Amino acid sequence: MFQQLDRLNPDAILGLMTKFRADPYARKVDLGVGVFRDLSGNTPILDCVRRAEQTVLESQTTKSYVSAAGREEFNAAVEELVLGAEHSARRERRARTVQAPGGCGALRVGAELIRAAAPSTTVHVSDPTWGNHLPLLGSSGLRLDRYPYYDAAAHQLRFEAMLERLDRAAAGDVVLVHACCHNPSGADLNLNQWRTLTELLLRRRLVPFLDLAYQGFAADLDADVAGVRLVAESVPEVLIATSYSKNLGLYRERVGALIVISENESRAEAVRSHVLQIARSIYSMPPDHGAAIAACIFADSALRSSWIKELAAMRERIQSMRVLLARHLRTAIGDESFDFIESQRGMFSLLGVPAAVVDRLRERHHIYMTSDSRMNLAGIMPDNAAYVAAAVAAERTVLAA
Ligand SMILES: Cc1ncc(COP(=O)(O)O)c(C=O)c1O
Repeated sequence: MFQQLDRLNPDAILGLMTKFRADPYARKVDLGVGVFRDLSGNTPILDCVRRAEQTVLESQTTKSYVSAAGREEFNAAVEELVLGAEHSARRERRARTVQAPGGCGALRVGAELIRAAAPSTTVHVSDPTWGNHLPLLGSSGLRLDRYPYYDAAAHQLRFEAMLERLDRAAAGDVVLVHACCHNPSGADLNLNQWRTLTELLLRRRLVPFLDLAYQGFAADLDADVAGVRLVAESVPEVLIATSYSKNLGLYRERVGALIVISENESRAEAVRSHVLQIARSIYSMPPDHGAAIAACIFADSALRSSWIKELAAMRERIQSMRVLLARHLRTAIGDESFDFIESQRGMFSLLGVPAAVVDRLRERHHIYMTSDSRMNLAGIMPDNAAYVAAAVAAERTVLAA
């Protein structure tokens, strides 16, 4: 049987990691892998996580199964964190939340739910988008299409083009929108743009699927979901995939949830039964350990305020590196063409240079990023920002000459 299978090329990001590890150069810079790093280059375990984990270990009495829906107290806390305590969808009991193995698990279960409800639906994803969106959603068998979102060379959102494209989508189609900290561009919709988008979704009867992987990484836990709450106030059916990989640093524990808002309470119950059946048919039950830690932090006021502080520190570290890199680029290049890095949000920005420049940055300067020129700003340090800026300035000039 397995003679039918040819060996696949390694995932681009894994290939890049391998090259980075093999590079002996002392000043090499990793802007590739999408994890937070502190000033020592580590992806730390948050202090609130360590403390909550201790509590979980001390109070746990069994390793027996939880359920396909995961921990109910985790699900309730996630719903409140995302929608807020007073949201109409919660008051009207139209929201259902089910724990999932990370944001990826939530995206995949959401895609299977859409497929079960309406197999011929097209899912419109932003161009550009996170590389994993296509396999995660596409492997459910749904058709995928792209809407213009960001012009990497001009460093600008393509909002008018986005609206124009979505205006031509078929009623019932799904639109995947990054809730905040767009990956890879770092360019987010402002609140007015969210309002305009909401009107279009309503008018064209499109269903939003909101990917919320970075709540707290742009401004704060509430401000980062303003767009999500706005959409969910007006649009009758909404899917939201949440992840706690980045904002709680629980990456390998696989903590996430799928929130589905339906037209009314009885639809919401029907939807939940399908979500649970899908979960049972793929992985049966989500892993519990990380969700137990997250639930402990969400419920305990001391742990929660420690989390909010640690989250602010991660956010501020990235923001300060954005400012630093933009400043060095201004000096190295002599103009403001890279100032956009400073005003974008989250971990990523697109340098907006051709793949050939990305190759030269890696081969000549040992600076690693994905071929679309996505930089993880958490790889920038006070002692490498000037080096990266000088390398970008040099390679840009070489290509232009
Ligand atoms: C845009 C986006 N969505 C979803 C995820 C899912 O993350 P995880 O499955 O690790 O929770 C990520 C992680 O990098 C992401 O960048």
